[in-house]
Amino acid sequence: MSTPTFVTQPYLPPLEEFLPYLEKIWESKQLTNCGPFHQQLEAALCEYLNVEHIALFANGTLALVTALQSLRITGEVITTPYSFVATSHSLLWNGIKPVFVDIEPNTLNLDPARIEAAITPQTTAIMPVHCYGHPCDVEAIQKIADNYNLKVIYDAAHAFGVRDAGGSLLRHGDLSVLSFHATKAFHTFEGGAIVCPDAKSKNRIDHLKNFGFVDETTVVAAGINGKMGEINAAMGLLQLKSFDQIKARRKTIANTYHELLRDVPGIFCLREMDREDANYVYFPILVGPEYPLSRDALYQKLKDHDIHPRRYFYPLISDFPMYRSLPSSHHDNLPVASRASQQILCLPIYPDLELTKVAEITDLIARF
Ligand SMILES: Cc1ncc(COP(=O)(O)O)c(C=O)c1O
Repeated sequence: MSTPTFVTQPYLPPLEEFLPYLEKIWESKQLTNCGPFHQQLEAALCEYLNVEHIALFANGTLALVTALQSLRITGEVITTPYSFVATSHSLLWNGIKPVFVDIEPNTLNLDPARIEAAITPQTTAIMPVHCYGHPCDVEAIQKIADNYNLKVIYDAAHAFGVRDAGGSLLRHGDLSVLSFHATKAFHTFEGGAIVCPDAKSKNRIDHLKNFGFVDETTVVAAGINGKMGEINAAMGLLQLKSFDQIKARRKTIANTYHELLRDVPGIFCLREMDREDANYVYFPILVGPEYPLSRDALYQKLKDHDIHPRRYFYPLISDFPMYRSLPSSHHDNLPVASRASQQILCLPIYPDLELTKVAEITDLIARF
């Protein structure tokens, strides 16, 4: 029997390399609450990502919820329907109304040309997503935010290590939020972080992720428990050592897919932008009308061969029951996102994926 090939498989360093970290935790008995590995990982990530301040979290969703709290965002927030549901769930957890704006067809990121029409007196912020790690049009978004005095919180869950011409992509906006979930390019089993522009905002975020405590007896806000534990931080430190090799391997796989799928009629690869230093966390394709099968039929055929791609992102967030009745959720308002969610398929990509398997997958796609 063949082994199934899933859309991703977490990278795990050799177990013997993790054991010394565990021994240290066992010796110190410091398991959480901003322990030594937590502090080391914050410093190491600032250096690796070339950012000034970072606050670690137990996961990306708590980081998103806290990012909104820290900026005191209220009212309405403009966001994309084409994302993982945690993006707009973080708004609902803060009592904020999401306003969905359509995406642009090349990157499948929030379309800046459509943002202004969605701004109302209640709008306080924009929450775009660097979908698949592809950079949003950060300049156009910032210009609109400046004109209307809006905050920008990037859901950068997919964008670990991505750079643009000026440096880390994570420096844009008021805050950027990362996920270190097991499925991401860089992971800590579960985890997340907020990249902050200055010490003051990091300070506030650090209080908010620790119940609002500033010292033993003083609580300044209704904070949450969003702290990352020491085992997770240790995995991050170890993982970081291999990240460049992991990325290089992902790039080889992505290039191979692209090469082998280039001439398949009806299959369109969402190419990494040439200029950016990408992380190749996903390999998304669009299954167009010229392809002999529908996206769902291709998805099923691959599954029949024990290949398990994922339809990220289908359904659209705006189609889930808690969002469906919003006026901005109407499909007429979201034609590009609606089409993309019907055509998208993310193919398996992870460091241990053999190139022979990539060839097998692309052969199947070309032959069906
Ligand atoms: C775009 C996006 N935002 C937010 C999240 C939530 O992150 P986490 O799973 O770490 O809570 C994820 C993925 O998991 C994601 O893909």
